[in-house]
Amino acid sequence: MNSQAVSTAEAPENLAFDLQDLFKATPRHPRFLLPLLQDIQFRYRYLPRASLKLVAEHLGIPESRVYAVATFYKALSLTPRGEKTVKVCLGTACHLRGAASVLDALSRNLGIPPGGTTHDMRFTLETVNCLGACALAPVVTVNDRVYGQMTPGRVAELIEKESRHEAD
Ligand code: FES
Repeated sequence: MNSQAVSTAEAPENLAFDLQDLFKATPRHPRFLLPLLQDIQFRYRYLPRASLKLVAEHLGIPESRVYAVATFYKALSLTPRGEKTVKVCLGTACHLRGAASVLDALSRNLGIPPGGTTHDMRFTLETVNCLGACALAPVVTVNDRVYGQMTPGRVAELIEKESRHEAD
């Protein structure tokens, strides 16, 4: 995984130039398709559309195959994402303990629907089926941080705390 992440989700105008180091470090073989896409996703927090063509050319495979992989994995995104991903678990244990109202409160507080990204590119809001921490239900994560036993009343405090936190 490449460690050079940019501070905004903007892809540079000269994407081919900006990605030179990744392409140099990646052998020209189709089996490197997913790792290469993950590296680009890590760098920009999404896959700029133009990068798919560059990846296809580098690996010698059709762009349609790159597109298929880019749209198959939930961890990859063709649209810009926020610095922080807020995941609200809607799995059974969390659902039974009020996850839907936590999601509503987060959506209202951030001013975005599930799947949306705030205008300032700070937060993307997502739902998931189980975060593997059912004992803490209802669970919300912000990047790698876990917030258990969430309530709608704690949402404002969580967003306030995460807003003060530097980007991960
Ligand atoms: S159902 Fe929410 S963490 Fe498992």
